[in-house]
Amino acid sequence: MTKSSGSSRVPDCFQALGAVVVSRQQIADSVAQLADKLARQYRGKELTILAVMTGAMIFVADLIRRLPLRVRLNVISVGSYGDSTASNGKPYIGPLCDDLAGQDVLIVDDILDSGLTLKALIEKVQSMNPGSVRTCVLLRKVRVQPAAVEVDYMGLDIEDKFVVGYGLDYDNCYRNLPDVRKLHPDGAIG
Ligand code: IMP
Ligand code: MG
Repeated sequence: MTKSSGSSRVPDCFQALGAVVVSRQQIADSVAQLADKLARQYRGKELTILAVMTGAMIFVADLIRRLPLRVRLNVISVGSYGDSTASNGKPYIGPLCDDLAGQDVLIVDDILDSGLTLKALIEKVQSMNPGSVRTCVLLRKVRVQPAAVEVDYMGLDIEDKFVVGYGLDYDNCYRNLPDVRKLHPDGAIG
């Protein structure tokens, strides 16, 4: 649904959004740098990507197309925010279809906040006796309280505000924005 104002037609859902925090160019540069590092780390190996759905969907799609490796792609559903901007501290983790035993697994997520989601995922993957487990995250919030885990491959640090776009959502909306933006015009939310 769009609202018209004069000659411009602006989608209603974009009007409340705040400033760009990470531009599409900064994202593209960071994805390219991460892919270069991963290509060196896993050269000559088969890499099993475990994409954390739904937020990592767009990041993973861009990242794997830059990897000159034999890549297997698995997804896992995770959620702890619902229609809120704060984690409930107990991430729901969905089922994993493939057996990851012996595989070199890279867990890929969109953003690191408390780190509880990634911590729970690492534990789940480790219980399946993989060959190795590493983590790759595009964004990390700079927080007073440090995250529960260290990430092996990190993209960009951002301020501790709730952001949307490039896969990141609020109430399952805004994932399709090409830049990462604050949810609220003055950044008051989050
Ligand atoms: P954590 O468990 O607190 O580290 O939260 C990580 C998960 O929460 C990520 O997989 C994201 O999907 C989601 N998340 C954390 N911060 C944001 C945000 O600012 N916007 C949208 N999603 C977020
Ligand atoms: Mg997520």
